[in-house]
Amino acid sequence: MESLEDILRNATKAIQSAPDLKTLDNIRVQYLGKKGQLTDYLKTLGQLSPEERPLAGQKINTVKESLQALIEERTHQFKYALIAEQLAAEAIDVSLPGRSQEVGSIHPITKTFQNLQQIFTQMGFIVLDGPEIEDDYHNFAALNFPELHPARAMQDTFYFANGMLLRTHMSTVQIRAMIQMPPPLRMVAMGRVYRNEFDITHTPMFHQMECLMIDEHVSFADLKGLLQEFLYAFFSKDIAIRFRPSYFPFTEPSAEVDIACVSCNGKGCRICKKSGWLEVLGCGMVHPNVLKMAGIDSERFQGLAFGAGVDRLALLKYGISDLRSLFENDLRFLKQF
Ligand code: PHE
Repeated sequence: MESLEDILRNATKAIQSAPDLKTLDNIRVQYLGKKGQLTDYLKTLGQLSPEERPLAGQKINTVKESLQALIEERTHQFKYALIAEQLAAEAIDVSLPGRSQEVGSIHPITKTFQNLQQIFTQMGFIVLDGPEIEDDYHNFAALNFPELHPARAMQDTFYFANGMLLRTHMSTVQIRAMIQMPPPLRMVAMGRVYRNEFDITHTPMFHQMECLMIDEHVSFADLKGLLQEFLYAFFSKDIAIRFRPSYFPFTEPSAEVDIACVSCNGKGCRICKKSGWLEVLGCGMVHPNVLKMAGIDSERFQGLAFGAGVDRLALLKYGISDLRSLFENDLRFLKQF
């Protein structure tokens, strides 16, 4: 048999180096269990003389108690480590900043749409919408485009295999409006239009606003007054405008409208290519053929119409230098609006 001292030393070493609770329990059984080494020792007490017994018993008990205490302490350590581990794993750092809700911003094009809508509804115009996928009739034929007009050619218009097309301008909506609503009529429409062109100042998809007014005694003077009023409201300042004679199949007479450069006030700069003027829209008096095709009495009613590039208007209003930044969805750009 090992001496009591050896048992104490070996058991202590084993307890202290036990890697887990299970090993610790095995050690307990090995020394203190029913068939354990210390229990065996106790059984030898019977062989001793009655005088020797109390001292020997006391010695064994002291060893037993110290081993029990050691095991208990070690068990406690294991349980404590387990709890600490669990706490660490489930810990929440309350000092971390919370996840805030990101608030989006309104895209400059949408802002411009809203702005235009407000200006024109205040003047008594209604806002209408139409499809982006159109037929030849609404995009061309009803707008008095001659059969072989170059604007119908493939390089400008995106066609589908079935003959439908992506609308190339918002004038399609004035046709839909005239067919559906008897005059007098005041409407605007805003939306996406598509043309097969792509360079620094053109994107294949862009935005237009169309305005149509039909009534008795509508004249070019009304058109001029309306445009002056609109541009004044939109740019929040009195802006010089000029008309240049132009041609559209669906208006007669037709004009293109320039405004004095908002950047240099007409003096000439990089934005207006030194001309002092910026082209912002096309306009004219609705061609009698267009009225007739839509079933409107062209003797009694006249119409004025204009179509403006919304992207251009937005660039000018917000001082954006590159058209492409409107379509790149760069948050650093968009957050400024
Ligand atoms: N639809 C023409 C274009 O896209 C603009 C326009 C609209 C011109 C209404 C005159 C009248 O170029």
